[in-house]
Amino acid sequence: MDPISDPPFEEAYKNLLNKTQNNSNDFHNGIEKFAVVEERELPMIDLSRLENEDEMVREECKFEIAKASQEWGFFQVINHGIPKDIFNKLKSEQEKVFKLPFDKKTKEDKFLQFSSGSYRWGTPSATCVGQLSWSEAFHILLKDVLGSSTQSNTLRSSIEEFATISSNLAQTLADILAEKMGHDSTFFKDNCLPNTCYLRLNRYPPCPIASPIHGLMPHTDSDFITILYQDQVGGLQLVKDKKWIAVKPNPNALIINIGDLFQAWSNGVYKSIEHRVVTNPKIERFSMAYFLCPSNDTVIESCKKPSLYKKFSFQEYRQQVRDDVQSLGSKIGLPRFLLF
Ligand code: OGA
Ligand code: NI
Repeated sequence: MDPISDPPFEEAYKNLLNKTQNNSNDFHNGIEKFAVVEERELPMIDLSRLENEDEMVREECKFEIAKASQEWGFFQVINHGIPKDIFNKLKSEQEKVFKLPFDKKTKEDKFLQFSSGSYRWGTPSATCVGQLSWSEAFHILLKDVLGSSTQSNTLRSSIEEFATISSNLAQTLADILAEKMGHDSTFFKDNCLPNTCYLRLNRYPPCPIASPIHGLMPHTDSDFITILYQDQVGGLQLVKDKKWIAVKPNPNALIINIGDLFQAWSNGVYKSIEHRVVTNPKIERFSMAYFLCPSNDTVIESCKKPSLYKKFSFQEYRQQVRDDVQSLGSKIGLPRFLLF
């Protein structure tokens, strides 16, 4: 691996890392809030059943999706209809773009015609080592990519292809979850347009530091639904019954998780669960995530009364998250909007 392509984590976080070595409490407060890790299978759902001619089979599949969203906030799907080829193409473009020299990546926004600030690394706001993320990402607003096709650029065309097909899957899942709450609504189709959604390309460089460091600090996603494709390295963990659960990679499965907005919309029925990535000392890891997001002015309001949460626009939600990250080092999220 070309060392110049890695962000300068050790240099930038020298003080935080030194402080940690001198004070292991600081570290444990950060990274080990929950008891340690078990490896468990996420609920596995075969989506081919949604096409079955037998209504009972289709309903059983929908029931499992809703149940997993309530009990885990996370599940895996197979036979999801997204050809392997689409991931493979994007994955190889992803590897290429991250291999560019670090200097170039920080200026990549313009070069790739993404909005400025698309390339991110580390955690500029970290105040303790538990808030540090040993990773880099392109966080791409799909408006910047979709429809601008004379896609001679293969990264952009692979993103477009992946986003278009992921958007269909995300809409299907959102509609099923709404239906299971007794709402046959067009809310998601009307408000989560392909160009209001985001795609995130993540890279987790090997981390040479001996003490455990997050690849991605614990967080919940600020969207309705996330579709995640990960490689075979592993490192994704989520909280279940107050324990961290390690998700075993499965080359045929996509991981689906509920985000904060769906938790608010469903009045707490579907759970937006904290998750994180732990680093690997030797092997780099890649993942890509599609985030089903509404337009900024969309108001998110619980579909059941009495509501647990104040209603808010997506814009307000994002602003609150940004303010909290800036002033506290990490996101508070939905608890900010609790009514009681
Ligand atoms: C994210 C995320 C997990 C992973 O990008 O929000 O949780 O495995 N990624 O990269
Ligand atoms: Ni996430």
